[in-house]
Amino acid sequence: MSKDGAFDLASGLGGKIEKKQVLSAVDKYEKYHVSFGGEEEERKANYTDMVNKYYDLVTSFYEFGWGESFHFAHRWKGESLRESIKRHEHFLALQLGLKRGQKVLDVGCGIGGPLREIARFSSTCVTGLNNNEYQISRGTEVNRITGVDKTCNFVKLGCYQEIYRVLKPGQYFAAYEWCMTASFDPNNQDHQKIKVIWDKDLAADSPVPWYLPLDKSHFSLTGFRLTAIGRFITKNMVKALEFVGLAPEGSQRVQNFLEKAAEGLVEGGKREIFTPMYFFLARKPLAANQE
Ligand SMILES: C[S@@+](CC[C@H](N)C(=O)[O-])C[C@H]1O[C@@H](n2cnc3c(N)ncnc32)[C@H](O)[C@@H]1O
Repeated sequence: MSKDGAFDLASGLGGKIEKKQVLSAVDKYEKYHVSFGGEEEERKANYTDMVNKYYDLVTSFYEFGWGESFHFAHRWKGESLRESIKRHEHFLALQLGLKRGQKVLDVGCGIGGPLREIARFSSTCVTGLNNNEYQISRGTEVNRITGVDKTCNFVKLGCYQEIYRVLKPGQYFAAYEWCMTASFDPNNQDHQKIKVIWDKDLAADSPVPWYLPLDKSHFSLTGFRLTAIGRFITKNMVKALEFVGLAPEGSQRVQNFLEKAAEGLVEGGKREIFTPMYFFLARKPLAANQE
């Protein structure tokens, strides 16, 4: 149900940013980075703005190239990228032990691809938390189109600190992250409140490397848009759409930084110095002194 045509890509590009402001938003986003002269302090002080600009600028590219769910997945040989993504979402529902009618939070939910799949798979009611307004409006639209709008919704919230508070004692939190942050302190009691039950880098034993869809030396018909030829076509299409004014000025630059990011991901994946698939399952203790 993604908006995955060329005109959808052009019309969604920039998200909630006024079309005339896209170019200056690209400028501002790039300048947060060291390679564009950005300062670390400035970036840290403006993380919300930086993250929001990023998702306003890239969401329609993600939908065009990747689909409704914006994550990587452990993948078996013979499995398509889409199948592996859905299987991973089912895996999350199973790990959490989700039961019919339960209320679930998806923290940092994108446009709700995982949320819809998990709600349908486990017959649960899922609320997606996100601080990006454009993604919430897209997610709400797709919820309505797919008919899950009675059981799934979105709330705009910058939310990671809320996880422990809203979790009922004895209930679970599963996460799937691009990396562990250096600020995690195993000796910090607050960090230890939610007990980690198991954790694993799911990239480590994935028969198909997670970065393969982005690797330009790999060809796939089902993931054609992500291949070298597919990306070449998209690049020129975006150039033409921008030239005739259908896509906002600055669109090609968004494609350029996504291209750079894809190259970095493939490099990091090949050298095994980075994973976008670090999974952990944690449980809030029943009471403060209980395991
Ligand atoms: C890589 S996307 C993943 C989206 C979704 N989980 C999926 O797999 O399709 C990360 C999401 O987290 C959201 N996000 C980032 N920081 C956030 C914060 N502090 N509070 C709420 N949402 C946040 C972004 O807007 C984006 O939707």
